[in-house]
Amino acid sequence: MDLIIAKDYEEMSRAGADIFADLLRNDPSAVLGLATGSTPIGLYQSLVADCDAGRISFADVTTFNLDEYCQLPVTDVNSYRYFMDHNLFDKVDIDPAHVHLPNGNAPDREAECLQYEDAIARAGGIDIQLLGLGHNGHIGFNEPASDFPVITHVVDLTPSTIDANARFFDSEDDVPKQAITMGIGTIMKARRIVLLASGEGKADIVARSAFGPVMPSVPASVLQLHPNVTVIVDEAAAAALPRA
Ligand code: F6R
Repeated sequence: MDLIIAKDYEEMSRAGADIFADLLRNDPSAVLGLATGSTPIGLYQSLVADCDAGRISFADVTTFNLDEYCQLPVTDVNSYRYFMDHNLFDKVDIDPAHVHLPNGNAPDREAECLQYEDAIARAGGIDIQLLGLGHNGHIGFNEPASDFPVITHVVDLTPSTIDANARFFDSEDDVPKQAITMGIGTIMKARRIVLLASGEGKADIVARSAFGPVMPSVPASVLQLHPNVTVIVDEAAAAALPRA
């Protein structure tokens, strides 16, 4: 696991964006795994600026997002599809046909999960997966559990995740209670993983994920077993890391 400690959120975002931009220059038809949440917004802004300046292009890129809420219209401002359109897809030269998010409104969600796994495999697998980190150690919506969920699946969101996401909704009751998420196995199959974390509120879980025991009650700890992970944190999120 490579660890980069950036000065602040901006530096963290630029360092993450540089990894994606380098990949796109070397492999313009790369398959990107993408994340939502507040953490990657700065990275997406940097990539949009790179695209505007002609330094990178998304024309041949394929994307798969980690997750999407169930039973929330994609036009809802809180849907992950809306987030991605607003923060990245509408601002770069990506082909909409190459963009994939799980369909949280599919009539048969189990079939949707299998179809999503299959679509990733047919695209040749994910070259680089971007991750944020939940306060409880979740990655995607893989919540602390007694085992590591393997493939894309429907998940019941924990009270702590519903509480954390309530800030985006009018009330906690409006937060969807289920989502479709890539599994831990899906994420671990990505050829490279970049995890971003920012702010002192993430310091404890960053330390437990990167240096604590690998266990499903801290889902991100599994990343210690992946051969090509870069963790980029700002100084505040690095505060609880062992000094050495
Ligand atoms: C987002 C996702 C989540 C977030 C995590 C951190 O697609 O799957 O795991 O990455 O909840 O969210 P923020 O960045 O808002 O702290």
